[in-house]
Amino acid sequence: MKRKVTKAIFPVAGLGTRFLPATKSIPKEIMTLVDRPLIQYAIDEARAAGIKEFIFVTSRGKSALEDYFDAAPLVEAELRKKGKKDLLELLKMTNMESGAIAYIRQQKAMGLGHAVWCARRLIGDEPFAVILPDDVIAAEKPCLQQMVEAYGETGGNIVAAMEVAPEKASAYGVLDIKEDMGSIVHVKGMVEKPKAAEAPSNLAVIGRYILTPNVMENLNKRKTGAGGEIQLTDAIAAEIKASGNVYGYRFRGQRFDCGSKAGFLQATVAFGLARDDLRDEFASFLSEMMTVRKAAE
Ligand code: UTP
Repeated sequence: MKRKVTKAIFPVAGLGTRFLPATKSIPKEIMTLVDRPLIQYAIDEARAAGIKEFIFVTSRGKSALEDYFDAAPLVEAELRKKGKKDLLELLKMTNMESGAIAYIRQQKAMGLGHAVWCARRLIGDEPFAVILPDDVIAAEKPCLQQMVEAYGETGGNIVAAMEVAPEKASAYGVLDIKEDMGSIVHVKGMVEKPKAAEAPSNLAVIGRYILTPNVMENLNKRKTGAGGEIQLTDAIAAEIKASGNVYGYRFRGQRFDCGSKAGFLQATVAFGLARDDLRDEFASFLSEMMTVRKAAE
C-alpha cells in the first residue's frame, strides 16, 4: 500500500535578491498577489491536496511569515466589535490548527536541496510534498491535488513538469524521458539548467514535488552541484539511477514564476482579472493603458 502524503515542506529560506530592495525587509513569500500573500496560495493548494502538516524552512528576517499564520486577537476583536463578519471569515484561512505548522531554520542559503534536508527529522520515513511558493499555479483543480492523484497510480517520486521553449530550458531542471504516457512521463534522467543545445527534452521541472524518503537519504550525502549549491534535482536524479522510480507530471494549469518581476506582474494581471469584484474596472483600465501605449508607438 502506498502511504498517504500528509506532510509538505515549504522552502522559503532563499534571499529573494531579484526583489531587492523590497526583500530587504519583507520576505518574498509575504508579497501580495491582489490581496493575499504568495504563501497563502501555497497553503491553500496544500490543504486541497490533503496535507495536514506544514513545514516551513525559513531563515533570518522571515518572522513576518510566522506572524502571518498566528492569531490576530486585536484585529479580530475590532472586527467583531464592528460586526464585520465577512472580514472575520476571510481571516479564517490564515488560521492553522495548533501543532500543524512547524518552522525550521536553514542557517545558510546552501541551496534548495539543503533547505529540504533541513526538514528531515520532521519527515521521518514518509513520502512528502515540496511546494515552492514563488511558483503560483492557477488551475481548476489545484496542481498538488492533481499530483497526489497521479501518485495514487504511480507511487514513487513525481515532479511537476511543463513544456518550455528550448531557449528557456537553461533556467530549469529538464527531464530526460524514458516513456511518455500522456500526463505522466517515466523519467530516465534529469539535468539542472542545461545549455539549450544539450537539453534532453522541452519538459521543465517546476516547484511542486512528491518525494520518497529515499530522496531525503540521498540529500544526507550533501553533495554540492550546479552553482556550488546542494541541488534537489541531483538527489532526485540519484533516485532515478537507484530505483528508476521517478515520474514527471504534466499538470493542467498556468504557472507563474513569481520569483521574477515579469512573472509576478503577469500573475497580478491574471489573478486580478479572475476576480469577480475587480474584473470590470481592471479590464477597462488595462485596455485603456494598451490604447495609450499603442498611440505612443
Ligand atoms: P530561488 O532560486 O528562487 O532563490 O529559490 P531565492 O533566494 O528565493 O531568490 P533570488 O534568486 O535570490 O531572487 C527557489 C526556492 O528555494 C528556496 C527559496 O526560498 C525559493 O522558495 N531556497 C533556495 C531555500 O529555501 N534555501 C536555499 O538555500 C535556496
